[in-house]
Amino acid sequence: MSTVKEKLIENLIGEEKISQSKITIVGTGAVGMACAICILLKDLADELALVDVAVDKLKGETMDLQHGSLFFNTPKITSGKDYSVSANSKLVIVTAGARQQEGESRLALVQRNVNIMKSIIPTIVHHSPDCKMLIVSNPVDILTYVVWKLSGLPATRVIGSGCNLDSARFRYLIGEKLGVHPTSCHGWIIGEHGDSSGLIWIKRRNLSQYPLCLGTKWYLRYCES
Ligand SMILES: NC(=O)c1ccc[n+]([C@@H]2O[C@H](COP(=O)([O-])OP(=O)(O)OC[C@H]3O[C@@H](n4cnc5c(N)ncnc54)[C@H](O)[C@@H]3O)[C@@H](O)[C@H]2O)c1
Repeated sequence: MSTVKEKLIENLIGEEKISQSKITIVGTGAVGMACAICILLKDLADELALVDVAVDKLKGETMDLQHGSLFFNTPKITSGKDYSVSANSKLVIVTAGARQQEGESRLALVQRNVNIMKSIIPTIVHHSPDCKMLIVSNPVDILTYVVWKLSGLPATRVIGSGCNLDSARFRYLIGEKLGVHPTSCHGWIIGEHGDSSGLIWIKRRNLSQYPLCLGTKWYLRYCES
């Protein structure tokens, strides 16, 4: 016979709901946690899972997000070292791996991070065979290709972040120079996300008075300063 307490705190949901838009983030360092906050604040997932090898840090980061649940609409935030927590994800964002040291190029990270991809990608796909993957770890363009090969997924389901960050930075810097919002400034950084990337400038009406001599050299000088 059930007690009064058991009757009062009866689970009304019964069986657990299956997630329809689950997102997993692998690697909960600076980039992974920035992704997590954006996903939660923009209501992009009905379940967010975090995976990392550094279990203490992972637990702390997860608790911080869970305790902020009052401000999010995502009902379930889980985490673990074991990839079973990522099962049935629609999207897996890979930010795991070494980051650059001062003066180190992104390309120098390649062997270390390829080894990490070899150890994690097959397990991710095993648990979420229908997922799309977004690769952020550097060198991002090389790793995206490596992940595509390791995963066996169609090319359309493995996406690299490419030069999106560089383009956003560029548009911010132009906006700062002109005193306008970056959304009114248009331009792209293209090529490999690394030291060899370059920029293209799209002339728009709202910037048409601005001299087009602002180019790669100006951008590089601006970044250096
Ligand atoms: N593409 C871009 O625009 C862009 C921008 C910034 C950083 N990055 C890259 O993203 C990566 C992460 O950067 P960060 O600043 O968050 O680094 P970070 O050191 O703060 O975090 C990396 C995380 O990966 C975890 N990790 C390491 N090996 C792992 C494994 N085998 N399985 C699971 N987790 C593992 C670490 O424990 C750590 O928490 C780096 O490679 C960095 O160069 C890319």
